[in-house]
Amino acid sequence: MSKSNSYQTLQACGLVIAVGASLAACTATGASNPSFQQDVMPILAANCVRCHSYPTLGGAPEYFRLDVFGDVIVRDGRPRSTAEGPCGVTPLDARAVICGAASLASLSASRVASDKRPMPPRFRIEDHQIATLDAWALQPERGPARPTNHVPSVQLQQLPTVAGVMQLEVTVTDEDRDLVVGELWVELAGDSRFVAPLRSGTARVTWATAGLPQGTFTATARLDDGAMVHQLMAGQLTIGGQ
Ligand code: HEC
Repeated sequence: MSKSNSYQTLQACGLVIAVGASLAACTATGASNPSFQQDVMPILAANCVRCHSYPTLGGAPEYFRLDVFGDVIVRDGRPRSTAEGPCGVTPLDARAVICGAASLASLSASRVASDKRPMPPRFRIEDHQIATLDAWALQPERGPARPTNHVPSVQLQQLPTVAGVMQLEVTVTDEDRDLVVGELWVELAGDSRFVAPLRSGTARVTWATAGLPQGTFTATARLDDGAMVHQLMAGQLTIGGQ
């Protein structure tokens, strides 16, 4: 490689070098063996998730989301996985699961490179980003997580129940500022019940508890920070008696 070429490569990869990644991973053609958390998620987070998260915005299709690696349960129902049906181009019956970024990897790679129907709709992402999504589509796996990755955390605050609907304030934080999404579950008489979808930040969530057994139950959060799904104790929730 000539001097001027390597200089251009450095320019194109300035950001990568600034955060200390190896030069080998940084070429004008993008990361060759991309890690979801380190290479792919930042591209999706910066360019795609303002429309393709949950719920979707701007008329984006509802059967998939690009803010999470795997397929995600969004409301109560039997957990399903890609193994049970195509989570790609064909919409699922969407009863319980929305396809994640891995299921959409090939379609995403072709749309970001498309001249006729580009994604995002209004501007073109950089060539090395397109190359990274392309490489990832060949093998849409998580790959290595950030070596210094921190586990995200969740805080739950139960507010007074209103007309049989439990009100909660949930805060999801991550030291690495990864985009974190997941679900809140409650262990109810030997049964895992889906409560609400979760994501980075503080949100008010509700859970219809009318007709459920009364008592105090353990809530767990399943949170994905791009590295893996972390199963975390979120706290106790009390149904009834208020
Ligand atoms: C401004 C909102 C917006 C942004 C940002 C955006 N999209 Fe889209 N996307 C849409 C809309 C609306 C559609 C449906 C219409 C269409 O297919 O063109 C769509 C469709 C898609 C589809 C097609 C799904 C199918 O079933 O054919 C893919 C794949 C996709 N987007 C990927 C991406 C990727 C990857 C990015 C980021 C690099 C991105 N989008 C950014 C709004 C957006």
